[in-house]
Amino acid sequence: MTQEKQKKRGTEVLYSLIAEARGYDDAVVLGRGDPDFDTPAHIVAAAKRAFENHANDYSPPEGILPIREAIAERVQRINGVEVDPNTDIVFTNGGQEALFLMVVAAIGEGDGLLVPEPNYNTYKDAVTFSRGVSVGMPTYPAESFRVDPERVRATLTPDTKALLLVSPNNPAASVISRDDQLALIALAEEHDLLILADDIYDLLIYDDFTHTSPASLPGGKERTLTLNALSKAYAMTGWRTGWVMGPADLMVRVKALKAAVSGPASIVSQHAALAALTGPQEPMEEMREAYIRRRGIVLDYLDQMGFSYGNPQGGQFVFVDIGHTGMSSLELSQKILSRAHVLAYPGGAFSEDMDHFLRITFLQPEDQLRDGLARMKQAMDAISEENAP
Ligand SMILES: Cc1ncc(COP(=O)(O)O)c(C=O)c1O
Repeated sequence: MTQEKQKKRGTEVLYSLIAEARGYDDAVVLGRGDPDFDTPAHIVAAAKRAFENHANDYSPPEGILPIREAIAERVQRINGVEVDPNTDIVFTNGGQEALFLMVVAAIGEGDGLLVPEPNYNTYKDAVTFSRGVSVGMPTYPAESFRVDPERVRATLTPDTKALLLVSPNNPAASVISRDDQLALIALAEEHDLLILADDIYDLLIYDDFTHTSPASLPGGKERTLTLNALSKAYAMTGWRTGWVMGPADLMVRVKALKAAVSGPASIVSQHAALAALTGPQEPMEEMREAYIRRRGIVLDYLDQMGFSYGNPQGGQFVFVDIGHTGMSSLELSQKILSRAHVLAYPGGAFSEDMDHFLRITFLQPEDQLRDGLARMKQAMDAISEENAP
């Protein structure tokens, strides 16, 4: 069964583990990727108003102008990127559609996308649908999963068409520094590569780390497509609110794809997204503070369990090294699930080379988080005792 599961795509492995967890009444899903918080009330109210005002028409495929203007204002203020709302932005059904459009717009048959590993697993799926090739490049916990520009250079092939830069990264929780972004842009210029930037966690940055969008740096904007979404920072995963932005000549293709794939996003979600971007930001700030507290709780338990991990610099995850257990990530994940009813996601589902990691998220209320981690600790203590020589 284990082998059969390992042959499946990463997402399929995760779905089957989640289905297994649902079978337990007291399951705690420590790997989950969607915030437990409710969407802030003023956003829900804006959606209700949209319904009541009969917002039931199609918008242009790229979204209503006010949402594109609000996005342009946001990326100028937060990311330091100037974009034209008329030509440079397409509003999408969440980050996932943005990801697919971005990859399909950039990658054609035989083109290579350089993917620092580990990474969000559906990038590879999108590249496969594009008939392109994902070229993996390892990053290491001892280097805080740094995307080392020199290693990127050594990994380039004549077919490499684009670099994927997800910062903060899912699942490694690493942030690409401004200096490394500059070096990566220089490399992209030298080899005439596109950059696919995923800024979905740009508001979730910890300690003294800072987020830099490649499009904000000299030479970056004209070769970068950037995705973002409100799913994570605003607790809006189910609303499907995201966007792709980039230079007008590349965005023509993204817009045409959007029209062909799904047409415009739900008009009600566009109004909700507008309220999220232009309304009070305090609820989002409060969630951010809760994530900072929870991150502390998770790291504390992991220290008690004797695990090492890449220090989470941003995002909502910790990528935990389980190498010393001698088990594959799926084996350990399944053991913890069956014994403690706690699901930590196997690193192998994110990248074959990351089979000695588990992903734990801090997207559960504090009491559930503590309960899940305490049960995981009990299971780990028992497993260590059984495996003791
Ligand atoms: C790095 C990254 N990009 C894109 C997405 C997709 O975002 P959405 O949930 O808005 O579809 C996710 C979701 O987990 C993600 O982690």
